[in-house]
Amino acid sequence: MKLTNKTVVLGVTGSIAAYKAADLASRLTQAGARVEVVMTEAAARFITPITFRNITGRSVVTEMFELASEFSVEHVALAEAADVVVIAPATANMIAKLAAGIADDMLGCTVLATKAPVVVAPAMNVNMYENPITQDNLAKLRARDFSIVGPAYGRLASGEMGLGRLTDIDEIVGAICQVLGRSGDLAGKRIVVTAGGTQEPVDPVRCLTNRSSGKMGYALAEAARDRGAQVVLVSAPSALSNPAGVEMVDVGTAQQMYEAVQKAVAKADALIMAAAVADYRPVRASESKIKRQQVSELILELERTPDILGQVKGDFLRVGFAAESENLVANAKEKLHKKKLDLVVGNDITAAGSGIGADTNQVVIINREDKVEKLPLLPKREVADRILDKVVELLHRK
Ligand code: CTP
Repeated sequence: MKLTNKTVVLGVTGSIAAYKAADLASRLTQAGARVEVVMTEAAARFITPITFRNITGRSVVTEMFELASEFSVEHVALAEAADVVVIAPATANMIAKLAAGIADDMLGCTVLATKAPVVVAPAMNVNMYENPITQDNLAKLRARDFSIVGPAYGRLASGEMGLGRLTDIDEIVGAICQVLGRSGDLAGKRIVVTAGGTQEPVDPVRCLTNRSSGKMGYALAEAARDRGAQVVLVSAPSALSNPAGVEMVDVGTAQQMYEAVQKAVAKADALIMAAAVADYRPVRASESKIKRQQVSELILELERTPDILGQVKGDFLRVGFAAESENLVANAKEKLHKKKLDLVVGNDITAAGSGIGADTNQVVIINREDKVEKLPLLPKREVADRILDKVVELLHRK
C-alpha cells in the first residue's frame, strides 16, 4: 500500500458506525499514514476522541475554536496538509452539508477548502439513504469527483435489513489507495489481470480445479489500481474479497475466462495472466449428479481447454506466468517464446514460502531478450509492483 508518509484526514461523523472508524484509523496508521482525525460534535457522542488519539498518536480535532490542536488555529491548515480526505462514516446530514458547501464545523471547512481528493463512505438508515434528497446530494458529490464507497447491504441499527451499513474497511482503504494513485505511472492505462483457478465441471456438484488462491492476481490488480490504471480483474473462483475500484468479471471455466478476456482486452494496454487455467476439462459434464451406486468405475475423458494467452487476439503487452516444479528458467523461457509474450514471470512452486496459496513468492522475470532477473522471496504485493515496474518500462518503449 502506498500510504507511507501520506497525510490522511479522517472525518468521523455521528453514526452508530463511528466505532468502525477506529479500525480504519488503525489500519491507515499501521500502513504508515499520518492520520489526522476530525470529529463532528455528534461523532464524539458515539466514540471518544481519546480512542483516536491513542490509535493515531496525534491530537484529534473536534471543534473549530479549540486551542488544543495545532490545526484548530488555522482553519484551513488541515485542508492544505491533506493528501486525501476520507469521511467514514458519513451521515446523510454531513453529505447534505458537503453537497451544499456548508462549512459550519471543522470537517465541513476542511472539505470545502481542500484540493485533495475526498472519499466518502456513507452510513445511515435505509430510508434516509434511499430518499431522493440524499441520492441527489450523492449524485452532486460524484459529479464533483468525490469518490463514494458503499454503503453495504445488511442489518442496520434499526434492526431492519437494507442498504446503509458502512462498507468494509478493506474497501475504504482500497478507495483511498486508488485516489492517491490517480497520477501514478500507470495513469490512463487499461490493464486486464486474470486470477484464481478455473473450475471445470464434472457434474452439478463436482469439478476439476487446482490449488490457486488468486492472491498473486489480486495483488497485481490492486497494485495496478494504486498506480493509476483502470483495472479489469477476470477472476476464477477465489475466497478473496473484491478489490475496491477494480472492475470485476467473475468466471468459472477456462472457456468462460477466454471469452471474458477476449472482451476485456479491447483497448487494453496490457494483459497479465496470473490465473491458473485448467489445461484439461471433461469432454462431457453430467447434467445430473453421478451416483456412487450406479457407477462402479468412473473414467473421465478429458480434452484440452483453449490456451488463453496463446490465442487471445489484439495489440497489447502480454505477461504470462510459468509455475514450474523443475527447470524453472528454461521452461519459462520456452513459454515466453512459444506464447509470444513480452514478459514471463517464473516461479518455482516447490520452493518454501513460494507460489500457490502462499502470501509470498520468489520469482524470476524474463523479457524477450532472455534477460533473467531473479527476485528474492517477497510479499506478493511487492512482487506485483516489481512486475508492474517492467510493464511500465515496456509501455513507455511502445
Ligand atoms: N494459460 C492460459 N491458458 C491455458 C493455460 C495457461 O492462458 N489454457 C496461461 C497461464 O495463465 C500462464 C501461462 O499461460 O500465464 C502459462 O501457464 P502454464 O499452465 O504454466 O503453461 P502451459 O502452457 O499450460 O504449460 P504446462 O502446463 O505444460 O507447463
